[in-house]
Amino acid sequence: MNGPITVLPSMLAADYGALADEAARCWRAGADALHLDIMDGHFVPNLSFGPDIVKVCRKAVPIPLDVHLMLTRPDLYIDRFADGADAISIHVEASCDIAATLADIRGRGLRAGLVLRPKTPASAVLPFSGRFDYVLVMTVEPGYGGQSFMADMLPKIRELARAANGSPFPIMVDGGINAETGRLCVEAGATELVAGSYLFKAPDMAAAIRGLRGCADVR
Ligand code: DX5
Ligand code: ZN
Repeated sequence: MNGPITVLPSMLAADYGALADEAARCWRAGADALHLDIMDGHFVPNLSFGPDIVKVCRKAVPIPLDVHLMLTRPDLYIDRFADGADAISIHVEASCDIAATLADIRGRGLRAGLVLRPKTPASAVLPFSGRFDYVLVMTVEPGYGGQSFMADMLPKIRELARAANGSPFPIMVDGGINAETGRLCVEAGATELVAGSYLFKAPDMAAAIRGLRGCADVR
């Protein structure tokens, strides 16, 4: 799917002591949306933050908020995260009725995303074709920021991009994304790039965002 590249800083890498300022910094640097990682300490070994933090970001910036639910039971929490979010993604490996949860997200007027852990094959999204608005391919094992990109996820992105040609859906990637790995993902067919450590540690976040968006030039 050849469209513009969108860049989403992951707030997991932000300074939580100045969260609203950090969100505003991303916005001023040209971010298309903010990515918010929600972890329950069960589906993934780590805990992050809850709906109140989504609300802080909502007040701080006018750009869309993309909420990535790493929860065993995301279906129980859609209501609490829908307030303020523009998109919510759930893992296909979650222990709930995936189709019904995607329908719940869409029913609230939000974009619904379906996420694949590294070990989950591309084919896992097929039964839900037409029921989601984007697929998120994890390019690290979910749970922590700052991990190294898994290059063996590139064939999965290519496979999804081929599948998407029939009924187009955007492919988002998340984990270990920087100028170099972002380019590889865009070459493979991704159009939405989530980046945490790379953007927050960049000496000039605006330049780093422009660089990621420039990955489109490889197509
Ligand atoms: C990992 C999260 C990612 C994470 C990415 O479980 O889903 O969104 O924040 O961080 P980096 O870009 O540092 O790998
Ligand atoms: Zn994420």
